[in-house]
Amino acid sequence: MNQLGRHLADRIRLSGPLSIAVYMAAALGHPKWGYYTSRDPLGRAGDFTTAPEISQMFGELIGLWCADRWQFMGRPGHFILAELGPGRGTLMADALRAGGALPGFLDAADIHLVETSPVLRGAQENALTGRAVAWHDRIADLPHGPILVIANEFFDALPIRQFQRGRQGWHERMVDVRNDAFIPVLNPLAVPGMDFPEAAADAVFEVSPARAAALAAVGHHIAGHGGAALIIDYGHGASAVGDTLQAMRAHEYTDPFQDPGAADLTAHVDFQALAAAADAAGAQAHGPICQGRFLEQLGIGARADRLKVRATEDQVKDIDGALHRLTARDQMGQLFKVMAVTTPDSPAPPGLEDV
Ligand SMILES: C[S@@+](CC[C@H](N)C(=O)[O-])C[C@H]1O[C@@H](n2cnc3c(N)ncnc32)[C@H](O)[C@@H]1O
Repeated sequence: MNQLGRHLADRIRLSGPLSIAVYMAAALGHPKWGYYTSRDPLGRAGDFTTAPEISQMFGELIGLWCADRWQFMGRPGHFILAELGPGRGTLMADALRAGGALPGFLDAADIHLVETSPVLRGAQENALTGRAVAWHDRIADLPHGPILVIANEFFDALPIRQFQRGRQGWHERMVDVRNDAFIPVLNPLAVPGMDFPEAAADAVFEVSPARAAALAAVGHHIAGHGGAALIIDYGHGASAVGDTLQAMRAHEYTDPFQDPGAADLTAHVDFQALAAAADAAGAQAHGPICQGRFLEQLGIGARADRLKVRATEDQVKDIDGALHRLTARDQMGQLFKVMAVTTPDSPAPPGLEDV
């Protein structure tokens, strides 16, 4: 067992099995041995690759989306441009370069990054050299004022709880330790009042109080100060049963209960639950729409054509390959979804009009 494993095993021996959420939060965010605390996991040499790391087109289109929303907000002289979980800062750097095409946008944008990883804060500082940037640990720490929020693959990294259907009802899945290995077990006590009559025996249902709280913080901010958020992640548009907890290491799936802190742990995002949290916070959710359709509606095809005009033959292949990866249904185009959050009376923002 690694150091974090021994720490968690001691905790379980002292106070009993941990919920999946507590195990996941420690594996990803433990201040010393957590996955994100201790490394930059992105890219070919890391464990996984994200859309902004595949192509500059992704961040550029989001930058233009933000510039459009700034205009829609009446071009405030100052607004908060916030990104949640900005990774290496690539998306924000590409977004600012593209958004700069609209006069006044960059001068008005105060950049705020919500990031807990010290390693990735360093990478973000490098990517955004020359820009004034403020970092925060929590969404609630963002300053007041009109806001545009970007979150790409942030919500899938927030902890989930899992419940499994047994003979006596729904039981929470917990993490126990046996013979120095972690194993999932069921809490013997059923959760009173939880009922999905159509679910099969052993079906798993996931909920995420952490995601709901994060979305509520974003929604309250937008409802109170104006603005919009763009949330991009992989997941499902309607709440459904299914065990989606997964671990990824060196671009391969691995056992989520082995070596906590050594692999990325994620779970599919339930966009219906996020939309409900936006609603409860007094904001309005639009979508979700599939990422492929969203990017096509924002003009990714035309952007790719434009980039290819001055590209070498190899670069043309790379651009076409990236376009395919971001938009094709069997790649990221369908599994990944895009949801916007706005003030209650706002029309659907660009890319989400015909959802
Ligand atoms: C999967 S990466 C996505 C990175 C980036 N958005 C991209 O698309 O390349 C998740 C990001 O969220 C950050 N993160 C994870 N949990 C967090 C939390 N609870 N609070 C703030 N940031 C968090 C990670 O450090 C990382 O920057």
